[in-house]
Amino acid sequence: MGVQGCDASVLISGPGDEHSAGADTTLSPDALDLITRAKAAVDAVAGCSNKVSCADILALATRDVVQQAGGPFYPVELGRLDGKVGTRAVVKHSLPGAGFSLDQLNKLFAANGLTQTDMIALSGGHTIGVTHCDKFVRRLYTFKGARPQYSPPMNLAFLRQMRGTCPLNYSPTTVAMLDAVTPNKFDNGYYQTLQQQKGLLSSDQVLFADRRSRATVNHFAANQTAFFDAFVAAMAKLGRIGVKTAGSDAEIRRVCTKVN
Ligand code: HEM
Repeated sequence: MGVQGCDASVLISGPGDEHSAGADTTLSPDALDLITRAKAAVDAVAGCSNKVSCADILALATRDVVQQAGGPFYPVELGRLDGKVGTRAVVKHSLPGAGFSLDQLNKLFAANGLTQTDMIALSGGHTIGVTHCDKFVRRLYTFKGARPQYSPPMNLAFLRQMRGTCPLNYSPTTVAMLDAVTPNKFDNGYYQTLQQQKGLLSSDQVLFADRRSRATVNHFAANQTAFFDAFVAAMAKLGRIGVKTAGSDAEIRRVCTKVN
């Protein structure tokens, strides 16, 4: 799910932008730099200057990261334009939350034409990468006065380990791996961690906890090819959401972090 669809609005920086909204604080300077360098490399080719959008570059970079981490290669449809808006207000309403229930996840994905199987396969993106303590600390401690919130069961030894990673006075920059078992490999290990009740985000663990989605988690945990096939199919659908190909609200950005 993009901020406004696949229009690279996620890259726009500035006051009130998406990065400072906290929803995507893991969008690292290194990752942004990679996109900037890819953009410069394309622009340096004769005849290509300012012909390739940041949205397309982002889609291609994602595909390459997935493949380099051991995941499947898949074709990326191209021709997206970049959007002109990337604000905190918009992001709040378009991205799923770490505390989402299965029904909330399904509702948001269905609104974008994605099925529950697509949603479970895409959540497999969490086979790599990290999350900050604030996204799951509510599952580790009981906070006095806090609104009670559903949290799917967590493996006890894992819970203790995570309390070590994120103590009550955790630093806002501390992160933990989303896939505790094979954090740097794009594989089906993510689903196996869910079977072991070692999913960090509530929205991940709920996929195993809720019996309506558990069979798909078990299927992907047992069969990596089935996961890869479902992931590739769902990524193609995801890559078509909110695509801009014309209009006054779209452009090819000259600098990926700024509207022209
Ligand atoms: C199902 C709904 C989803 C929810 C609720 C969700 C939520 C999150 C959260 C809370 C984080 C951690 C952010 C932080 O702490 O800064 C995260 C990270 C991440 N998500 Fe998702 N996400 C979802 C779907 C997806 C999809 C569809 C993909 C890609 C196919 C994806 C790929 C990633 C990756 C790779 C990271 C790690 C980023 C990094 O290491 O810098 N997520 N997600």
